[in-house]
Amino acid sequence: MALMRVVCVVFFCVLIRPSSTETVDELLNRCMVSKTQKSKPSPEPGLQGVCSPWKENSCCDAKIARDVEYNATWMDFDFNHCPGKTLSPQCEKYFKLDLCFYECSPNKGPWIKKVDQTFRKERFIGVPLCESDCLSWWEACKDAYTCLSRWDKGFDWSEGQNKCPAGNECRKFTEVFQNSVDFCQNLWGGSWKVVSDMAEECVKIEFSGSNPNNKVAREYAGKIVSGAVTVDTHFRLTVVSVLMYICHVHLK
Ligand SMILES: *[C@@H]1O[C@H](CO)[C@@H](O)[C@H](O)[C@H]1NC(C)=O
Repeated sequence: MALMRVVCVVFFCVLIRPSSTETVDELLNRCMVSKTQKSKPSPEPGLQGVCSPWKENSCCDAKIARDVEYNATWMDFDFNHCPGKTLSPQCEKYFKLDLCFYECSPNKGPWIKKVDQTFRKERFIGVPLCESDCLSWWEACKDAYTCLSRWDKGFDWSEGQNKCPAGNECRKFTEVFQNSVDFCQNLWGGSWKVVSDMAEECVKIEFSGSNPNNKVAREYAGKIVSGAVTVDTHFRLTVVSVLMYICHVHLK
């Protein structure tokens, strides 16, 4: 009986402690664990060029923003992987904005997932991209060329940079992707989910002035936390009830 009494007390102490799910504040103001990002976002008044809209609060420093602006490749990934074809400046701008969001945005928290890759330990999945931004990106890039409909896997990396795998011909984006949504959602294997600007809060990769995505991330973080708390609370209450019954029977 003494042992059972100890077991019951321990169980209750464990179950009644506060929940360890992430709070809204932890989901906001978060960067990704990666070689290129800071551990916490902070103001970067020195950000210049295409990533400068993120300067009020940023996960990338000025050096990384300069790399986005000027490097021909990103972590050895070559956007111009089709021989003899280069992205138009207009199209390149959108891939840079996409990279700015990836590296600099402090608003990715609600969508971050763990991964085990050499160059990163986290990525984002299903960030709600505004349909209008997806459409501008597609319009700017639809005449560009590629050999793969997904760029997050499938390339030949044997020479240190991504090369088209043998047998994959380069074709226009319009022949590789069905439409703007197919392009935005599948290119990075589901990092983006296209949503209507009208129907839902959505993330913008192209903006000026104050960052419109702070509000979007806060809204989604709130939903995630309240959802997690509800499920967690129901589960805890059930377990507590069962234990109370067992302990009651045993300790009588
Ligand atoms: C940008 O280019 C420099 C010089 O080649 C290189 O050291 C750096 O790693 C590159 N940055 C990224 C993120 O690829």
